[in-house]
Amino acid sequence: MGDTAVKKRIFSGIQPSGELTLGSYMGAIRNWNALQSEYDCVYCIVDLHAITVRQDPAQLRRRCLTQLAQYLACGLDPEKCILFVQSHVPEHAELSWILGCHTQFGELSRMTQFKQKSQQHADNITAGLFTYPVLMAADILLYQADAVPVGADQKQHVELCRDIAQRFNGVYGDVFTLPEPLIPKVGARIMSLNNPANKMSKSDPEGCVNLLDKPEDIRRKFKRAVTDSETSVRYDPEAKPGVSNLLSIYSAASGKSVAEAEAEFSGQGYGVFKNAVGEAVVELFRPIREESERLLSDKAYLEGIYRQGAERARAVAIRTLRKVHRKVGFLSR
Ligand code: TYM
Repeated sequence: MGDTAVKKRIFSGIQPSGELTLGSYMGAIRNWNALQSEYDCVYCIVDLHAITVRQDPAQLRRRCLTQLAQYLACGLDPEKCILFVQSHVPEHAELSWILGCHTQFGELSRMTQFKQKSQQHADNITAGLFTYPVLMAADILLYQADAVPVGADQKQHVELCRDIAQRFNGVYGDVFTLPEPLIPKVGARIMSLNNPANKMSKSDPEGCVNLLDKPEDIRRKFKRAVTDSETSVRYDPEAKPGVSNLLSIYSAASGKSVAEAEAEFSGQGYGVFKNAVGEAVVELFRPIREESERLLSDKAYLEGIYRQGAERARAVAIRTLRKVHRKVGFLSR
């Protein structure tokens, strides 16, 4: 691998369970982009994770391709990082089984996301939904990742991954690198525009802005964003969750600090402020949407990227899995 072998490794992934959102952009992709020149980065479209809740097959296929186009349009460069689809590297599912045999039922029962999702999908609480964090640990550990750039909601899963790795290393000797979560300072938890008490998520379309939304839809969603009964544009997440969320978004989209943004809008009404945030996001996403559309018209190019990505990812994954097989006592194939 030449000098990439000495670079620290980064791994992260996003589920193709819906459109990419402003939340996943601010919490993850923006950081992925910034890391790709300095680190050895592996970025995944985690389709195995997506099927922990029911997906429409044709839609899932389309979303995987659209998500790859968006990764590229956001600036991820297949020359600098590995971009691939999780199900194309079977070692993820294999390692997941082995790690599952080293994970406690109690640990998985404590996962916040499992508790939330099992409420949302009460009629379909599958074993996959429960063991989802084990698969996520396999994703990370297969690549011996040093760091995992994610939004705040995934911190608990990365910590569980560390616990599993530590336990495994304790039994079998040094096998896995212990990963650190990398959580951005601004944008780690973008809230719903409709209801700033909740995280922005795909399941709440009006409160959620997507990378591929048309400018008029983005403007409308920001115009309707919930604020409060005061008039001052001030960062105070406790007392003013809606306005603070908009300030974070504006800061991340414009590159200005939150203090600079507060100063810019001081004395101005919420109407002006909300329009300005909407416009900043429209301009941020315009080139991404246009480039995604262009890329999606060239399916052969996208296929080439994910095929080559899977090959490169597999070369790394196989090495780790072989070591794991040896350590746990499987006969060599
Ligand atoms: P997912 O697909 O739900 O979200 C993708 C990434 O976007 C971040 N994110 C947000 N950040 C800030 N504000 C929000 N409102 C917001 N919504 C989403 C998430 O924190 C995440 O970083 N289990 C993971 C996918 C995964 C993964 C992995 C991540 C599978 N294997 C290995 C890292 C490493 C998930 O469901 O993310």
